[in-house]
Amino acid sequence: MTRLHLNLLGGFEARPESGSSLTFRTQKAQALLAYLAVPPGQAHRRDKLAALLWGAMRDEQARASLRQALYDLRKNLGDAAGALRTEGDTVLLDPTAVDLDVMKFTGIAGEETPEALEQAALLYRGDFLDGFTVDEEPFETWLLEERGRLRELAIEALARSLSHQRKTGALAAAVRTARRLLAIDRLQEPVHRTLMRLHAQLGQRAAALRQYQHCVTVLQRELGVEPELETKQLYQEVLTQRATACEPTTGPAASATTRPLARAGLDPQIAETPLVGRDAPLAKAQAALHQAEGGSGQLVAILGETGIGKSRLVEELIAHAAQAKWRILLGRAYESDQILLFGPFVDAFRADELVRDAAVMEALGPVWRTELSTLLPQFAAMPGAPRPPEQVDYRRLFECIAQLLQQLSAREPLLIVLEDLHWADELSLASWHSWAVASRPSESSSSSLPGRKSSPTTPYFAGRFRTSPNGST
Ligand SMILES: Nc1ncnc2c1ncn2[C@@H]1O[C@H](COP(=O)(O)OP(=O)(O)OP(=O)(O)O)[C@@H](O)[C@H]1O
Ligand SMILES: [Mg+2]
Repeated sequence: MTRLHLNLLGGFEARPESGSSLTFRTQKAQALLAYLAVPPGQAHRRDKLAALLWGAMRDEQARASLRQALYDLRKNLGDAAGALRTEGDTVLLDPTAVDLDVMKFTGIAGEETPEALEQAALLYRGDFLDGFTVDEEPFETWLLEERGRLRELAIEALARSLSHQRKTGALAAAVRTARRLLAIDRLQEPVHRTLMRLHAQLGQRAAALRQYQHCVTVLQRELGVEPELETKQLYQEVLTQRATACEPTTGPAASATTRPLARAGLDPQIAETPLVGRDAPLAKAQAALHQAEGGSGQLVAILGETGIGKSRLVEELIAHAAQAKWRILLGRAYESDQILLFGPFVDAFRADELVRDAAVMEALGPVWRTELSTLLPQFAAMPGAPRPPEQVDYRRLFECIAQLLQQLSAREPLLIVLEDLHWADELSLASWHSWAVASRPSESSSSSLPGRKSSPTTPYFAGRFRTSPNGST
């Protein structure tokens, strides 16, 4: 008997052992075949099948539709029709005559050997019956349950495979596995982190940073939340890694034959892209950095439409500052956070784990620390801290932030970057504005990146403060 090959992971494909894909007259005939196949060999009563796919019809009419669908199936299965068997009032697919990807996948997804897990990853080409819909509630319920069950199995198998690849140093394979995991569930924040770490280990700093931006966007868009502290800290770590320690290695991997692959994004080993152009705004920002190094605080605002390269430009600047051993504080405003007081500043202070910096805490003194605890509750737990004030005094909070920045910048050159400032709360914007006004014209500047549109649509701010040891900002 000709065996029937059924591939239901990633779509629907039915074909006889040696032959091309079969087509069926109706979607419901395909749905019936898929239902009988998972698992093959299970006998189903006709009335149950009729209710599954023709629930809205009267019983007789539904059973007639089932008969018609079975007839169509037999006809279209051709040589492989022997796989479909009717026994009394039941219908089943002969398990010895069917070769089903779902069965192969579930059989090996639970195994532990790396080979089995890789094979399972190959078999899971996509979601169960991906893109397949039949407007019948009982069938859709079954479909979603099966899809969820198989997706969970795939995630577990890929996660075990990823862990094995990381342990054995197969980093490029691990990148591919992590990407597959995110393709199945892009909200898995730990996987975003793993991918960032892998890129960083491979010397692909820009790819690691891009992964973070992608993670932020996905979480914001789909859940309206910001990344976990661990993710932000990792981002900060990657950002401040000395650029030289993280550059991609040159050598055989970057040969003429592999370069086109990298351009196509196919080889994660060499998929780095250097900064293209932007000489003028970069030079302007770097000049501000040098001036600040001399003790005169600077503000730089970078404006430009979405995706024009604002973050990329700032990454370059951060790498420059990190190489010169500046302290870097990185905060971000989130669309969901517009009511949080001093949101991007708080974000920057939290990610930097300032509270662990004993010298800064000491210099700040208990009164300012207590004031700051309104914004950062962990400051309240410090020894000797008086009770925080009951009423929020915005002016004092503003002063607190200025004090903290002064203390930090009195010790070492300080670069504070505030991303996506257009989402920031009004107090953050007011602080920035007052600092901008307070600085002499030569000490603040803005860059608009020329885009397709003439007017900038996405304001973004990167501010830097360097105070002289006597503390003027
Ligand atoms: N000058 C450049 N050279 C190389 N790659 C660039 C350059 N500018 C932008 N890119 C790439 O284009 C993509 C978008 O850039 P980026 O994220 O910096 O834009 P953005 O202006 O910050 O966007 P958004 O407004 O969404 O925050 C990134 O993958 C980035 O690496
Ligand atoms: Mg950006």
